[in-house]
Amino acid sequence: MAKPPRPSAAVRERSYPPPFPDGWYRVAGSHELRPGAILYRECLGAQMIVYRGENGRAQVMSAFCPHMGANLAGGCVKGDRVECPFHLWQLAPDGSVAHVPYADKLPRARHRIWATRERYGQIFIYHRGAQIDAPPPYDIPSIADIDDGRMVYRGRYDAGSVHMHLLEFGENSVDFQHFSPLHGQMFVPWTRLRVPGVQIQHEADWEDDPEHGHVVRFKNHSTLRILGKLRPETRGDSVATFWGPAGIVMFRITIPKMGDILFFQTHLPVQPLEQRVWFHWFADVKMPRWLVYYVVGNWISQWRNDLDVWENKVHLRKPLLVKGDGPIHRLRKWWKQFYPEGVMYPGDEADDGGEAERAAE
Ligand code: FES
Ligand SMILES: [Fe+2]
Repeated sequence: MAKPPRPSAAVRERSYPPPFPDGWYRVAGSHELRPGAILYRECLGAQMIVYRGENGRAQVMSAFCPHMGANLAGGCVKGDRVECPFHLWQLAPDGSVAHVPYADKLPRARHRIWATRERYGQIFIYHRGAQIDAPPPYDIPSIADIDDGRMVYRGRYDAGSVHMHLLEFGENSVDFQHFSPLHGQMFVPWTRLRVPGVQIQHEADWEDDPEHGHVVRFKNHSTLRILGKLRPETRGDSVATFWGPAGIVMFRITIPKMGDILFFQTHLPVQPLEQRVWFHWFADVKMPRWLVYYVVGNWISQWRNDLDVWENKVHLRKPLLVKGDGPIHRLRKWWKQFYPEGVMYPGDEADDGGEAERAAE
């Protein structure tokens, strides 16, 4: 597939819903943050520092000191507090001013903090576009197989920045008709090199989770066709769980007779139409390392095919769908919950959630 020229950012941006839906997002890997370290991040329409207190806890707060705006990333960690480099004020993890070297009476105003969790070697924050002090409506998932040691950490890959809206990743899973043209060919894992004579046949489906409104699962069964012959023994099953709006997506891939691989694909919206993407994976203790690397690399090759489209397209609010297209509008209706008041297209409070379009599905 030839890569088209990228349309201007302005044309693309104005076609999409807002860029920062509410949800949990990975802001750093645990390995990047030794005790006492401070990282600076610009993402989700904000500037923040991620730091680790001397007690070992990761915390996230607004980057600019509430006193006179110095960048706290230039400061240092004292215990569980951050000390500003300018006049040496200290801020506590709850955002309160804990110490001013030259004043006894401390200001009562709170500095902005984000709910922060560190799980499975990654640091996540909860972003919300409104009522920013309210607690997160749901937590980071617990993964029993990792917690009890049946699955172990096997690697990570920093995929850098990609130029797309987060919604594209969600819609992709229900876009059943793109699997054959974009993912019907086997590639050498981690590369764009086609494997001649090997095609992949997909059967895709999805379900929401009656107990967790923020969760959907996409299932895919893939079988290889080698030199034109379908080989049922090559069938592999995967489930992609969206834990909110694609900030955290967990893929579980089952290889018959070998075991399971679980990898996180996380997207951090850095600015409109820019996502920072990381992969971070675990596998059954007995799964050979080469096989895990092969399977993850296979997915990443396929993902790059999608990127060629996502990075150069616009969003159509009323796509011209026909019978056989997947449930795009149902996915969008689910996605709406991640915007304040459930409004996906600002200025259009009368948004009907695509009911009219759904009727056509
Ligand atoms: S600007 Fe931070 S202490 Fe003054
Ligand atoms: Fe795809």
